[in-house]
Amino acid sequence: MKLILRMNTALCAFLGVLLALPVAAAEPVKIGLVLPMSGPFAGYGKQIEEGVRLYLKQHGDAYAGRKVVLIVKDDTGVAPEVSKRDAQELVVQDKVDILAGFGLTPSAFAVAPIATEAKKPMVVMNAATSSVTTKSDYILRTSMTLPQVTAPIASWAAKNGIHKVVTVVADYGPGHDAEEQFKKTFVAAGGQIVAEIRTPVKNPDFAPYLQKVKDTKPDAVFLFLPAGEQPVAFMKGFAERDLAKSGIKLIATGDLTAETALDAIGAPALGVITSFHYAEAHNSPENKTFVDAWYKAYGPDRPDFMAVAGYDGMHLIAETLKKTGGSTDGDRFVEAAKGMKWVSPRGPISIDPATRDIVQTIYIRRVEKVGEKLQNVEFDQVPDFKDPGKP
Ligand code: PHB
Repeated sequence: MKLILRMNTALCAFLGVLLALPVAAAEPVKIGLVLPMSGPFAGYGKQIEEGVRLYLKQHGDAYAGRKVVLIVKDDTGVAPEVSKRDAQELVVQDKVDILAGFGLTPSAFAVAPIATEAKKPMVVMNAATSSVTTKSDYILRTSMTLPQVTAPIASWAAKNGIHKVVTVVADYGPGHDAEEQFKKTFVAAGGQIVAEIRTPVKNPDFAPYLQKVKDTKPDAVFLFLPAGEQPVAFMKGFAERDLAKSGIKLIATGDLTAETALDAIGAPALGVITSFHYAEAHNSPENKTFVDAWYKAYGPDRPDFMAVAGYDGMHLIAETLKKTGGSTDGDRFVEAAKGMKWVSPRGPISIDPATRDIVQTIYIRRVEKVGEKLQNVEFDQVPDFKDPGKP
């Protein structure tokens, strides 16, 4: 009897090992992507998801022996309650290991407490208000922050004969960050802000704001609008009202001239100067490989900064999995991701271990016609630039 019992125990232990080992090794890493896949910001979801998938296509879809599985949930844009519900479902029903995506700031803000509570790594691939990374210790960001991409254009303006500026920003987190940083850097360099205008995030009509700019007669307008439809509409109005003809320059963060919008903006984009972290025309071997692979997979659609943030977000996840031996334990994963460094299609980047935010080169660019296409052509840069919006 005793012998049988002992044999049974041994058998159970043996079976247990047999069952546990291969199952654990084959357990996929589930990544839940919360993204706007419909509505006015659907382009963000498309670019980010395609960026993530392109990385997997080029580098393989298994890391530290674990296959990566993507589960995409549409949060429809600026709808924090939908983002929150999506993330809850991903954690509770789909049992994802990692949350990622986040096209807009309200979405990232809404999901941060869920990442904290569930102790899940949360990789932000666009939402760019500086404070996003302070909302949970589990957040890592591979996109940018608005103060980071704004300060360089403010310095450039002050050095290039622009004295009086009207700021025009979307009235929410990233717009407020852009307005504050532009003012801080530009005024410190001797410039003057003559008016500050905030436009609604949802369905803005730019006509009255453009008229106010025209009446104020500044040397330049500094603009931040969320990439996509709004920049196209603003640029059309800017051209129709002859603001450029009346001598008002337009400077902006590169959200305005994202490659996905350039063709729709057309000629009025020519000559516009922006500062940003990614241009399709960025001249490097890493970007050439990325852009070639992109067109092969998705052409004729153009890649923009969101595609690269998705691609780099997937790189960060893949390399961190290798470091943790496949563990997605929130604390271990985030610790391992801190300080990660690599050469992105945009140039050299790293994850600041103190803030979990991205450090990167910001380029000053001018829209020019290159061959048949309008491109952001880089002509100056600020290397290794940390988010100046952090205390
Ligand atoms: C944001 O909501 O954080 C956001 C959206 C679009 C951009 C930049 C920032 O182009």
